[in-house]
Order: sequence, then C-alpha cells, then structure tokens
Amino acid sequence: MKALVYHGPGQKAWEEVPDPTVQADTDAIVRVDAVTICGTDLHILKGDVPAVTDGRTLGHEAVGTVTEVGAGVKNVAVGDRVLVSCITACGSCRFCREGSYGQCLGGGGWILGHLVDGTQAEYVRVPFADTSTFKIPDGVSDEEVLMLADIGPTGYEVGVLNGRVSPGDTVVVVGAGPIGLSVIMGAQLFSPAHIVAVDLADSRLEAAKQFGADVTVNPSRDDAGEVVRALTDGLGADVAVEAVGIPESFEQCTALVRPGGTVANVGVHGAPATLHLEDLWIKNVTITTGLVDTYSTPTLLKLVARHQIDLGRFVTHRFPMSSFLEAYDVFSAASETRALKVVLTR
Ligand SMILES: NC(=O)c1ccc[n+]([C@@H]2O[C@H](COP(=O)([O-])OP(=O)(O)OC[C@H]3O[C@@H](n4cnc5c(N)ncnc54)[C@H](O)[C@@H]3O)[C@@H](O)[C@H]2O)c1
Ligand SMILES: [Zn+2]
Ligand SMILES: [Zn+2]
Repeated sequence: MKALVYHGPGQKAWEEVPDPTVQADTDAIVRVDAVTICGTDLHILKGDVPAVTDGRTLGHEAVGTVTEVGAGVKNVAVGDRVLVSCITACGSCRFCREGSYGQCLGGGGWILGHLVDGTQAEYVRVPFADTSTFKIPDGVSDEEVLMLADIGPTGYEVGVLNGRVSPGDTVVVVGAGPIGLSVIMGAQLFSPAHIVAVDLADSRLEAAKQFGADVTVNPSRDDAGEVVRALTDGLGADVAVEAVGIPESFEQCTALVRPGGTVANVGVHGAPATLHLEDLWIKNVTITTGLVDTYSTPTLLKLVARHQIDLGRFVTHRFPMSSFLEAYDVFSAASETRALKVVLTR
C-alpha cells in the first residue's frame, strides 16, 4: 500500500510500504476512506517531535472501514464504518479508568503517527480497537466525522469545558486557527454573551466571524485588552483560551482574564512562558492545561448526527491521496491558501 512516510526533519514521501497486519488480538485494520493533516504533523516535519523516527507513517485522524479484527476484538466488526481518533485507549489503566485516555499508561495515548504508524495511508493498524474507535451513525458524512478525530474534542474539552464557559460569559479566544475556531464553535453551546477572537491574520478573523465570534481583534492594529474591558465593565474576560502555543499569547490570556476567571491553555508550547504572579496572585484565577482525552467524542458525535454542530465547515480543500504532497503544501501555506483543514480520500 501507499503511505505518507516521515524521513527526518523536512523529509517526507508518499511511498510504497508493507500492508499493516494484526499484531495483537485487540488490533483492527482499517481501510482509510478520509484522512486529514494536523498542525502537529507540521511540527513533526520541522523536527520538533524527536520521538517520531525515520520511517514512521504520519497521521492521527481518519475515517475508515474495518477490514480485519484480532480475535480479542468484541465491539468492532469487519465492514463497520469507524472514526479513528488521535487518542488510543487501552481501556484498563489507571488513567483510562477515569476517562483521561490521553494519559493512558497501557500503551495508548497519542501514539498514531507518533510512536506507531499512523493514518496517512491506505490502511492503518488501530491498537485497542474496541476502546479507540467510534462507530459512525448513518446519515453523517466522512468529512463531518473526520473533524472529531482531533480538533472537535480538543477545542471542546481543553478550551470550552476546561474553561468552564457559562451562559452570559465573555470568552476570548487567542488564536483562530482550526483549534481556536473549534473552541469558538463549542463555546456557543453554552450561550456566552460575547466571543472575542484575537488573531494576527485577517483571514483567520474572517473565519472566526463565520464560526460565531461576534467581536474580532487584530493585535497589530487594536488593543485586545481595551476591547475586552469595554465589553465587560472594565473587568476582563470570564474565560480566556490560549490557542496559539507561544509565550506572548499565554501571557496575553492571563492579562485579559477577569478576577475569578479561567485561562484555558490549549496551545502546545515549545518555550517557557512567564507566569506574572506579581499581578495574578490577588486575582483568584484558575489556569488549566491539557492534552485532549477524547472523552467528549460520543457527545460530539451525537451533536453532529443531529446537525447541532457542523464540523464539515472546516474543510477548505480536497485531494486524492495520490496528491498528499500537494495537500501538505497547501495546508502549510495557510496564510496564502486560506486553508483550515484539507481532506484526502482514496
Ligand atoms: N492541547 C492539545 O491537546 C492540542 C491538540 C491539538 C493542537 N494543539 C495546539 O493548539 C494550537 C493551535 O492549533 P492550530 O492547528 O489551530 O494552529 P494554527 O497554527 O493553525 O493556528 C494558530 C493561529 O494563531 C495565530 N497567531 C499566531 N501568533 C499570534 C499572536 N501573537 N496573537 C494572536 N494570534 C496569533 C495564527 O495567525 C494562527 O491563525 C497549536 O499550538 C497546536 O499545537 C493542542
Ligand atoms: Zn492533531
Ligand atoms: Zn490506558
């Protein structure tokens, strides 16, 4: 079969590799019908994730059809249409037992396209298939469900739920990439009074408006603090969500939040940020961090099936898998191509 294989920083190829086979009796083999690319894959290609080694098939998001199951697989059968999620769960370790699948100690967590071969391929081996796939209800398109492999639950769990977004809140989302937009979409389920999107790219701010932000701020022109204070009687935001992953945006979130409010960090950081305790000690703020666990995926799947959220709106570009390299080029040049998510099909 063909797969998108990582060959060290800056090097990748769409090339012939052996078909995956069942290795443990809890594995399933899934024919990939639709797959996407994540910002994390771009980090890997820059060499930022050294655990990914030469020869690894990338990708941790897919929708597909089960073609083979190990003898121990009970809930998934050949022919089932399933979501393959970015998080694999052994289902029985200390963390899986409390729904913190991202922290799995039993061989799961974020492993696909990281520690084992991933989904950017014609077929993928899915470990712990019973607890790591989700059956797709009829009447829902591959594209809508595909966004539940990562950005849907990430924005909802690590941004909206960790941030405790509540009715009437003013929510600031710093960074309006796919993750920030997912936060904006999920926040609306809780009827906030205002959603303020902050981004340096006007194209991303336009997308934020379409996804439900009522106020947008480009910090190269306007002061986000002034805008938020004007909306909140000078108090600051009830919830500030960091969805960039750089020190400045984290520090900005801690400056934008009101006393007693919450800063929910979603961004993946590669450098230390300053925690301004000289200002924050007196403000009763809560700061949360998190890797997505995907405990909310069944809930989001219901909302998608009932058309209460439309995750298909993230898809801006479509390619056949044979054009994987072109898809990477388009996705990585998002400021010119206005790409949010690209989808590849067989
Ligand atoms: N915690 C998790 O489980 C998890 C999961 C997936 C992704 N992430 C992380 O979430 C972050 C966002 O992901 P994404 O795919 O949306 O990334 P992205 O790069 O597409 O979007 C980031 C956005 O931030 C904007 N930006 C850059 N600097 C800014 C600044 N100083 N102020 C305001 N906006 C600024 C960019 O213009 C861009 O629109 C990344 O750090 C990613 O690694 C976290
Ligand atoms: Zn991802
Ligand atoms: Zn586990």
